[in-house]
Amino acid sequence: MNPPRTDARRHHDPDVRGFASDNYAGAHPEVLAALAVANGGHQVAYGEDAYTENLQQVIRSHFGPTAEAFPVFNGTGANVVALQAVTDRWGAVICAESAHINVDEGGAPERVGGIKLLTVPTPDGKLTPELIDRQAYGWDDEHRAMPQVVSIAQATELGTVYTPDEIRAICEHAHAHGMKVHVDGSRLANAAATLDVPLRTFTNAAGVDLLSLGGTKNGALFGEAVVVLNPDGIRHLKHLRKLSMQLASKMRFVSVQLEALLARDLWLRNARHANEMAQRLAEGVRAVHGVEILHPVQANAVFARLPHDVSERLQKRFRFYFWDEAAGDVRWMCAFDTTEDDVDMFVAALKEEMAR
Ligand SMILES: Cc1ncc(COP(=O)(O)O)c(C=O)c1O
Repeated sequence: MNPPRTDARRHHDPDVRGFASDNYAGAHPEVLAALAVANGGHQVAYGEDAYTENLQQVIRSHFGPTAEAFPVFNGTGANVVALQAVTDRWGAVICAESAHINVDEGGAPERVGGIKLLTVPTPDGKLTPELIDRQAYGWDDEHRAMPQVVSIAQATELGTVYTPDEIRAICEHAHAHGMKVHVDGSRLANAAATLDVPLRTFTNAAGVDLLSLGGTKNGALFGEAVVVLNPDGIRHLKHLRKLSMQLASKMRFVSVQLEALLARDLWLRNARHANEMAQRLAEGVRAVHGVEILHPVQANAVFARLPHDVSERLQKRFRFYFWDEAAGDVRWMCAFDTTEDDVDMFVAALKEEMAR
């Protein structure tokens, strides 16, 4: 059989990058190469393939011998599957008001997972035992959804990072109340790069029970995994994954991407680079009079407040989003492929627009 003619079409300029999202980036070439290696021949579908088996070993090398990965398509799916595995029908999840599960998942935890979210306002996207206590009560009250899980994001949606001690304190507090701890680790790699410690230091070693492990923002084409760290009381995950439409038939192609990131240091190289670009951006922005940086820049995001008309003009030159349009707050994200030139050109454009 002749191979099909490849009629490669490019519909975009591969040299144009913005600061809208780390999801705007393409896939890392090493991930694409790994996908090509995994291609060809037949492999058992639905996760019984050699790539998924190998991924388990890689996951255990990071998170220890009890860890088990359940690859899924996307981060919302990972969160919804993970949270269902640790809640009863009457259960609730305590999270920050700014949590992705609360503001950016279209209600999927509630509608698809049937989970009540109990939210807490935070200054910087981070929960503390004291903040958790604003919602952690009433376990015996049938009029209230029962708090069964604390979900935190590492790094947070506001670009801040928990220290291992902060996560340990949350886990001790949650466990003392019989609650599990879930980490939305869509940007877990960025947090590890900032903390400069192994992934397990601020996850299982700190008491985290299960996590949503990100791949997409870290250089994958697509794909994340629910990782069970402490299997006690976590049941039926594979059934929940299927029920939640997150079971990939050709799972080898999700697994091989995560393996390509995590088996050696690609995950860390990509995250470090994105974080460094955010630091460079923050440094440049700090020198521009009239622009205020809103949160500590601890991962790959810079949040800033600037005049609305300046943002609108700048958006015509580089893509980025308003975070709170009324307040004039914007979010600038760096990715694994953001270059120093991208950052410098952006800062120069910001200066020009501020001066107009
Ligand atoms: C904190 C956080 N969690 C999860 C996700 C994953 O979302 P998605 O379903 O788009 O992969 C994102 C993506 O923006 C995120 O920022």
